[in-house]
Amino acid sequence: MHIDVSDIIDLERYPVNRIENVFAGQCRDAYRKTGICLLEGFVRDSALERLVVEVQGCLEHAFFCDGSHNAYLSESPACADMRHLRQERTFVGSVPYDRLPEYGHLNALYLWDPLKDFIGFVLDKPEFHRFADPLGACSVNVFVEGGVHGWHFDESEYTVTLMLQAPEAGGEFECVPLVRGTESEFQTVNAVLDGGRENVLTLPFTPGALLIFGGKQSLHRVAPILGKRPRLVPVLCYAEQPGMQNSESVRKLFWGRTGPDPDALAGLP
Ligand SMILES: [Fe+2]
Repeated sequence: MHIDVSDIIDLERYPVNRIENVFAGQCRDAYRKTGICLLEGFVRDSALERLVVEVQGCLEHAFFCDGSHNAYLSESPACADMRHLRQERTFVGSVPYDRLPEYGHLNALYLWDPLKDFIGFVLDKPEFHRFADPLGACSVNVFVEGGVHGWHFDESEYTVTLMLQAPEAGGEFECVPLVRGTESEFQTVNAVLDGGRENVLTLPFTPGALLIFGGKQSLHRVAPILGKRPRLVPVLCYAEQPGMQNSESVRKLFWGRTGPDPDALAGLP
């Protein structure tokens, strides 16, 4: 079945296929100023249900990791005062790219060049490519009941996610925009880790929204998930050079393997 991307994305509201227009420039400005470009209603309501059903059909292939880390995801302390390096918990699953339907709606979006080019434009990247990792190119984060992603700064400069399914309660995406490198950075991190809410922004989880987020400069977390309905968030990955992949250790950490799924291979004729 051929999938027409204009049936998935509301191109009248968000003409991402024409980056020379005012809309794309506004998105780029918003990202530059705040580290956030949030497009609510990016996926049409009529396509949202099909995407959700498609992803729900893959959830048995999610690999879960449950561990702790500090906000800087670093092994060694950055300075004598260690308070900003307290441990935070992360419990999240991920469905790898090779377990998503090759000819499905999510992959149709991911493989659509105008979307890639639009995101590269917003991020101000002269060269922009899809990630070439067989597991991590486009994956789906799965937060089940009790799931959480503790406060942290990302290692990568930006992340691109699609808000697909909200949990029954909890699971808010919270961030302190552009705090990294400021004079009050450690003070702010400490206050937030202590439960302080000053400067904390809660982004609405609106199913169908596209989020381009500069996670390296902004402290952020996913609050604990409540209820049986999983929070589903596809992650679209890109790189500034062609052919880029994750290291084997990253693959092992997020998906529990480094190569093709032996169960999938066993199913081949
Ligand atoms: Fe993150």
